[in-house]
Amino acid sequence: MSEKIVLTGIKPTGTPHLGNYVGALKPLVDMSQNNRTFMFIADLHALNTMHDPHEIAEHTYEMAASLIAMGLNMENAILFRQSDIVQVYQLATLLNNVTPKGLMNRAHSYKAMVEKNTAAGEDIDAGVNMGLYTYPILMAADILLYNSDIVPVGADQKQHVEFARDIAGYFNHIYGETFKLPEPVISETAGTIPGLDGRKMSKSYDNTIPLFAPEGELKKKIMRIITDSKTPEESKDPDESTIFHLYCHFANTDEIENFRKMFVDGGMGYGTAKTILFEKVNSVLANARTEYERLMSNRGEIDAILADGAKRARVVAEQTFARVRRAMLGE
Ligand code: TRP
Repeated sequence: MSEKIVLTGIKPTGTPHLGNYVGALKPLVDMSQNNRTFMFIADLHALNTMHDPHEIAEHTYEMAASLIAMGLNMENAILFRQSDIVQVYQLATLLNNVTPKGLMNRAHSYKAMVEKNTAAGEDIDAGVNMGLYTYPILMAADILLYNSDIVPVGADQKQHVEFARDIAGYFNHIYGETFKLPEPVISETAGTIPGLDGRKMSKSYDNTIPLFAPEGELKKKIMRIITDSKTPEESKDPDESTIFHLYCHFANTDEIENFRKMFVDGGMGYGTAKTILFEKVNSVLANARTEYERLMSNRGEIDAILADGAKRARVVAEQTFARVRRAMLGE
C-alpha cells in the first residue's frame, strides 16, 4: 500500500459510457486496490452547466453505482458526494483571497468562451457565470482539503491541478506551510477512445456507447459503429478501425494479435468484426452490469455507501479546514 493519497472527482454530467470506463473509471478502480483514494462525484462542479436537480442526482447514482459495481476497493477508497462536505464550499471562499484574478483569466475553459464570444462580436463574458469563472478555485479546494498527493485526471484537467498547486503555493507563502502540493497524473488513454462515428467518444458528439446498457442495446449500438465500405474479402487496416481500437481496450494481447490478423488477411466482414467486439465487451462487463442493475434498483444501498464515505471524508475535511481557518483568522 502506497503512502500517497490519491484524489479525483468525476462530474455527474451524463450516463457513464465506454470512454469514461477506459479513460477514468477503470484506472481509478485499479488504483484503489493499492492506494488510499478519495473519490467523489463532483456535483458542485456540474452546477455551472446543469440546472436540473433530478438529472444531477440521477447521474450521481449512475456514477457511484458504476464504480462500486466495477469493484472499487471500499476499504482503501472513500466514495462520496462532493456537495455533502460543507468545508469545500467554505475553503473555496477562503482560497478566493489568495487567488489572483489573472490566474482565472488564463484558465482554458474560460479563455475558450472569451475567444468564442470575441469571434461572434459579443461581450467577452457573455454566457459566463461565476461558477465557470471560479471553477478552478472550487477544484483547488477539493484537492487541498483532502491533502492529496496525486490527482489522476484527463489531459483537459491538467491545468486545473497546476492551478491548485499554484494556489497552495501562494497560500503557503503568505501564511506558512499549510498545504501539500499535489501532482497531476495524466491518463494517456482518456482522449483517444473513439465513439460510434470515429471521433472521440463524448456525450457532446452524441456518439457514445453506454457502459451498462442492457445486452441488447449494447449490441445494437456496436452494430451502428461507422466503417468504410470495404467488402468482407478485402484486407482492412486495423489501425484505422474504430472496431479494432475499442477491442484493444477489452481483450488480451493474444486476442488482439489474432483480431489484427483477421483485419489484415481479409475474409472478415465488418458485421462479423462487430459481433466479435460485442461478445468481448459483453463478457468483460456482464458481471459488473448485473451488480450495477442491482444497485440502481436499491438506491438506499448507494445512499448508505455515500453517507459512510461522507462521514470518513468529513474527518479529514474538518481537520484541514480548522488548520486553514486558524492560519488566516487566528484562534
Ligand atoms: N473538473 C473535473 C472534470 O471535469 C472534475 C473534478 C472536480 C476533479 N474536482 C476535482 C478532478 C478534483 C480531480 C480533482 O473532470
